[in-house]
Amino acid sequence: MKTTINNIAVFTEGNEENKPIVFVHGFPFDHTMWKAQVEALSKNYYCVLYDIRGLGESPASDGQYTMESFVDDLESLIDHMGLSKPVLCGLSMGGYISLRAVERMEEKLGGLILCDTKSDADTDEVKLKRAAGIKQINTTGVESFVEGFVPNCFSEIFIRRHQNDYAAVLSRSKQNSALGVKGCLLAMAGRTSTTGYLSKISVPTLVICGEEDKLTPPDVMMSMADKIHGSEFVVIEGAGHMAPVESPKEVNKHILKFLSKNNF
Ligand code: MLT
Repeated sequence: MKTTINNIAVFTEGNEENKPIVFVHGFPFDHTMWKAQVEALSKNYYCVLYDIRGLGESPASDGQYTMESFVDDLESLIDHMGLSKPVLCGLSMGGYISLRAVERMEEKLGGLILCDTKSDADTDEVKLKRAAGIKQINTTGVESFVEGFVPNCFSEIFIRRHQNDYAAVLSRSKQNSALGVKGCLLAMAGRTSTTGYLSKISVPTLVICGEEDKLTPPDVMMSMADKIHGSEFVVIEGAGHMAPVESPKEVNKHILKFLSKNNF
């Protein structure tokens, strides 16, 4: 089912009496990246997906975003839908949002699944890359930016073996508006570090990383997981930064095990 809350496109699958899981996608993607997880989980869980403001079917509005405003959007969605202690499952930029959300409103959350993400803020080098990305969008358009950015998000093997799936993701990403994509780049560049809160996280946490992830590699994610008491850390063999898309069976197996182990 599709609905709109506060100008955000929200999609639900499954019985709303079940434990809610809110999926927060990465950049510059949309909610459809979680298709395989929803297929595996919607029988026993209430799956709530949304398009981050400015991406997918959520309009860019004024294009002025911060990580805080992304968390405001997530919080208003949780409150508006009356979700009781949902498990947050975020990938990369969705993980930045989830990590800041847990820091700000842990009492509203039941658990955390962090896929291919990190808690550190952008280094100066990455901030300069964001600035170059904005310049590229202004000069050659969002399509050329997406063509340069998205290949780094997948393992070479996935791109070679799943050409149609990869082409579909690329094509969807190119449909995002320049304003929305630039707004997300600025929000990521301006976000705070959430590393200081990791040792305070008390909800059950699963950390998932693709073995070939070039953007948030296993050593970075393992050191993040080490700081979260009682968290589980799994590496998905052969997958890149988009592990849930590239190796859905393996990722789903770990998510299901984590959910059932914690009685969700
Ligand atoms: C993402 O997948 O959300 C992005 O790679 C995050 C980033 O650029 O930092």
